[in-house]
Amino acid sequence: MQVVSISSLKGGVGKTSVTLGLASAALAAGIPTLVVDLDPHADATTGLGVTAADKPGIGEMLKNSRRAQLGDNVVPSGWVATDRRAKNSDPKHRPVLDVAMGSAFSGIYDRPDLGRRDLKRLSTLLSRVSGYGLVLIDCPPSLNGLTRMAWTASNRVLLVAEPGLFSVAGTERTMRALELFRREFAPNLAPAAIIANRVRSGSNEHTFRLAEMKQMFGDLLLSPTIAEQANWQQIQGAAHSVHHWPGESAKQAAGTFDALLKNIVETGSVRNRVIRRAG
Ligand SMILES: Nc1ncnc2c1ncn2[C@@H]1O[C@H](COP(=O)(O)OP(=O)(O)OP(=O)(O)O)[C@@H](O)[C@H]1O
Ligand SMILES: [Mg+2]
Repeated sequence: MQVVSISSLKGGVGKTSVTLGLASAALAAGIPTLVVDLDPHADATTGLGVTAADKPGIGEMLKNSRRAQLGDNVVPSGWVATDRRAKNSDPKHRPVLDVAMGSAFSGIYDRPDLGRRDLKRLSTLLSRVSGYGLVLIDCPPSLNGLTRMAWTASNRVLLVAEPGLFSVAGTERTMRALELFRREFAPNLAPAAIIANRVRSGSNEHTFRLAEMKQMFGDLLLSPTIAEQANWQQIQGAAHSVHHWPGESAKQAAGTFDALLKNIVETGSVRNRVIRRAG
C-alpha cells in the first residue's frame, strides 16, 4: 500500500485539486484507493461527492486512534456510482474509491507543538486497514500537526507549487522543513516530489519559474506539469471526476493525471524495493 501526502505551506495552490485528479486517475486505472481528508475544511470530501453520512469523520477517529476502525467508517465516493464498471455484479471487479471524511474536529491536532505520540495517530489508524493499493492524504495549508501527522504515515510527500516567485521560495522552505522532519521522525520517507500546478503555457514568467524549479529540484520536479484549466471550478463544483467530464480540455487534464499517477506509482514502487533490499 503506497501512502502519499499532498501538501504545501501555501494555501490555495491546488492540493485538493491534485488529490482529486489523482483519485480520478486511480479510479480509472482500477487501483483500489482511499482518500483521507485531513483538512478540517473538508474540501476533498465535498469534491468526491460525499454527502454527510452517519459515520465519524477523520478527526473523531484520530481522537480514538487505538480503537477506531477506519475501514468500517470510510464512505464510497459518489464518483463510483457513475463509473460504468460499478454495475459489475462481481464485487472483485467493482471499482473502489473510499473516503475517510474530513471533519472540523481534526482541527484540535493542527498545532505546531504536536508530540511524538500524537504524530502517530494516523499511522496507527492506517496500520489496521487493508485492501487498498493507494492512500492519498489531502493536507491543510500549513506545516502544523495535521500535515506532520500525514507525513509520519506516508511513504511519499508531494508538494504542490504554482510557478511564481513566492510559491517557489515557499516550496524550498518546505523541502528543508521536510528534510529535518524526515531525519527525526520518518527515516523511510522518500524525498519529496514537486508538482507544478496552474501552468500557463504562454506566460514568460511561468516559463522562467519552471526553468528555475527544474534547476533547483532536478528530477524531483515531476512531469507532466498541470496546466491552468478554464473549467476546473465547474467540474469540482459539480463534484465530478475529471475522467467522467465531457469535452476535450477535461480529456487532456485526465491524461495529465493518468501520467502523473503512473509516474508516482512506478517511482514509489521502485523506491520501496530499494528500501526493502537495503534494509
Ligand atoms: N490547474 C488549475 N486550473 C484552474 N484552476 C485551478 C487549478 N488548480 C486549482 N484551481 C482552482 O484554484 C482554487 C484552489 O484550489 P484548491 O482548493 O485545490 O487548492 P488547495 O491548495 O487545496 O487550497 P487550500 O490551501 O485552501 O486547501 C480552486 O478554486 C480550484 O478550482
Ligand atoms: Mg485544499
